[in-house]
Amino acid sequence: MEKRRRKSYRPMAELALLIVAGLAGTALGSSVDDALLTQARQVFAPLPEVMSSAKNPVTPEKVKLGKMLLYETRISIDGQVSCVKCHPMSLYLADGLKKAIGNNCKVNPRNSPTLFNAASQISAHWIGNRADVEDQARQAVTGPPAFGMPSNQAVELRLKQLGYGPLFRQAFPGDKEPVTVENFARAVGAFERTLVTPAPFDAYLKGNQGAINQTAKMGLKTFMDAGCAACHASPYLGGQMYQKFGIVAPYWQYTKSADKDDGRYVVTKNETDRYVFKVPILRNVAKTAPYFHDGSIDSLGEAVWIMGKVQLGKGLSKAQVKEINAFLDALTGEIPRDILTAPLLP
Ligand code: HEC
Ligand code: HEC
Repeated sequence: MEKRRRKSYRPMAELALLIVAGLAGTALGSSVDDALLTQARQVFAPLPEVMSSAKNPVTPEKVKLGKMLLYETRISIDGQVSCVKCHPMSLYLADGLKKAIGNNCKVNPRNSPTLFNAASQISAHWIGNRADVEDQARQAVTGPPAFGMPSNQAVELRLKQLGYGPLFRQAFPGDKEPVTVENFARAVGAFERTLVTPAPFDAYLKGNQGAINQTAKMGLKTFMDAGCAACHASPYLGGQMYQKFGIVAPYWQYTKSADKDDGRYVVTKNETDRYVFKVPILRNVAKTAPYFHDGSIDSLGEAVWIMGKVQLGKGLSKAQVKEINAFLDALTGEIPRDILTAPLLP
């Protein structure tokens, strides 16, 4: 109700602002600002309310069940691992480690990315070896470094024993036998599709030019003019293409990574895919250190500088890095409060 009423007043409020701006004689400043906003709107867009999927429609029943399943440790081989172990809510659904630790202390091959705003990418995982969030969840339960369960049947049996039957029935009313790993993945995926964190940058893109400060605006300009936005675009600032990490120079010369990850080559065995990774989303990136697929870099400023160097052949100045950092800060949203409360499990 409130929202709708405000909307109808907006044109008048905007008109008033224009008049005030004109009277104050800020026409020059505002035309530069307007040009920046116009340029930004060609590359980025505000986050949607839900990252919907025709294949897996988001329903309240699936979302409720999906959230519970994200916290469930009893479906892992050692009873210690849940999705939240490696994607803790309070750490923006990333884990702060260089590489994630799974069942029986197994080290995962790569860094754990955030699950916020992550469900509308071309694929899931750094090298795109999962089709989407549902495919990711489906394979995680038997993934050796993740839950490590011996089979889907073992997971399904455990879910039934734990008393999840009625919740699966509510979420998948048409199914004869609803407790399946397939439906586990649909429920978890539906929940992930609701995980959006609107940030000051969204308010800015919607027209509130005061939502981000002057330093962030300069960073936004550099981000677009230097060429970062050629790869990090869309509402998510990434997730829409694969690119080589190290176009101008080998990445490990700068990240000092001990191992060279073959990247997407592992999936396709195509020589041109060596060291190619999915361009990661940059939403909440200020909160999800360490950086890169191997967590090799701790500071965001350093990650930004390395990007300029190895992707664009540009040595960004200290001031430019600081400005880009301020822009990236404007991509930090709030963790929705209801997400932080752990659900009661059956
Ligand atoms: C043992 C730690 C661990 C557990 C448990 C785990 N994840 Fe992850 N997750 C990771 C790591 C590490 C990656 C990156 C893997 C890669 O790219 O090779 C990842 C990647 C993802 C991605 C891809 C994000 C992107 O931007 O590409 C999604 C989605 C995801 N996990 C969801 C889940 C869900 C849902 C569960 C529970 C069913 C789960 N994860 C359990 C560590 C974990
Ligand atoms: C040619 C495409 C391309 C360009 C241009 C590019 N990036 Fe990237 N960016 C990538 C890829 C690919 C990765 C993943 C690297 C890896 O494997 O860890 C990445 C990773 C990052 C990360 C680390 C994200 C994380 O969660 O670990 C940041 C920050 C980043 N880029 C910022 C920038 C900035 C700032 C610029 C401009 C100076 C830029 N990028 C230019 C492709 C690009």
